[in-house]
Amino acid sequence: MKGIILAGGSGSRLAPLTNVVCKQLLPIYDKPLVYYPLSVLMLAGIREILIITTPRDKCAFEALFKDGAHLGLKISYQVQDKPRGIPEAFILGESFIDNKPVCLILGDNIFYGEGLPAYLKNLTSLQTGACLFGYYVKDPERYGVAEINDEGKVLSIEEKPKNPKSNYAITGLYFYDNQVVTLAKQLKPSKRGELEISDLNNEYLKQNNLHLEIMGRGMAWLDTGTHESLHDASKFVEVIESRQGLKIACIEEIAYRLKYISKAQYLQLIEEYPQSQYRAYLESLLTREFV
Ligand code: DAU
Repeated sequence: MKGIILAGGSGSRLAPLTNVVCKQLLPIYDKPLVYYPLSVLMLAGIREILIITTPRDKCAFEALFKDGAHLGLKISYQVQDKPRGIPEAFILGESFIDNKPVCLILGDNIFYGEGLPAYLKNLTSLQTGACLFGYYVKDPERYGVAEINDEGKVLSIEEKPKNPKSNYAITGLYFYDNQVVTLAKQLKPSKRGELEISDLNNEYLKQNNLHLEIMGRGMAWLDTGTHESLHDASKFVEVIESRQGLKIACIEEIAYRLKYISKAQYLQLIEEYPQSQYRAYLESLLTREFV
């Protein structure tokens, strides 16, 4: 399965932080925000990845990840010249997707929790339909919201409804079969002038081809849409990392542990890192037990 990270948008809600750099490159404690969704794709076993971003930010992403070979990945880049909506990722990514199933993750979504890789691994074999994740939140009106019946079947999906039919927000992690490009091309812009991911999901729902997996409360799905939530996400990562002495979303560690790169490549990667706490962490993994 292929993976797309959507890392564009105007970022206007976070100005002036985003006046010269996009939101997905802002720090979440000790690493750029985009490391977190990238780590999710890596943990899912997805190694062919397209990053879609703005004309302004493309160079910065390329400088950060290059072609991904040092992480055992194949990373390519594509520009979205205007934020015309999340489903445009599939239209822009058509040749990358190459008629295969695809996973899309929004570049500003952070997931953390025991069992996440297992959740994800099951889905990378998806061949038909769509799979989304629902997460219980106190403010569903800020998200795509699923109406679910007693058997767990999705009845409707509404984008930022004034009167949400449940507390289950749809997260920014989506798995689709190879119809997704065709369906995305058929969408019409909504009243706010964007292609809506909820409209795309409703197309799968109409076909009776949509599965919603509930992410339990033991998982953390963190928001980064406001200055407060961005700061809270940093604090969350700091608390866990300081307690355990283990990093969240350390992409180099994941590449090494999952054997995407050899020990020699890992040593080379450390060699090229500037002296820093992050490098010291990477070095320390060489002499630690794997946990
Ligand atoms: O985070 C999950 C939510 O993401 C879902 O529950 C909603 O259904 C979905 O519409 C989306 O809601 P947001 O309000 O977070 O969407 P936003 O427009 O902020 O876009 C999400 C990210 O995608 C953001 O980092 C910017 C990026 N983006 C967005 C659009 C519309 C792009 O790169 N290009 C775009 O055209």
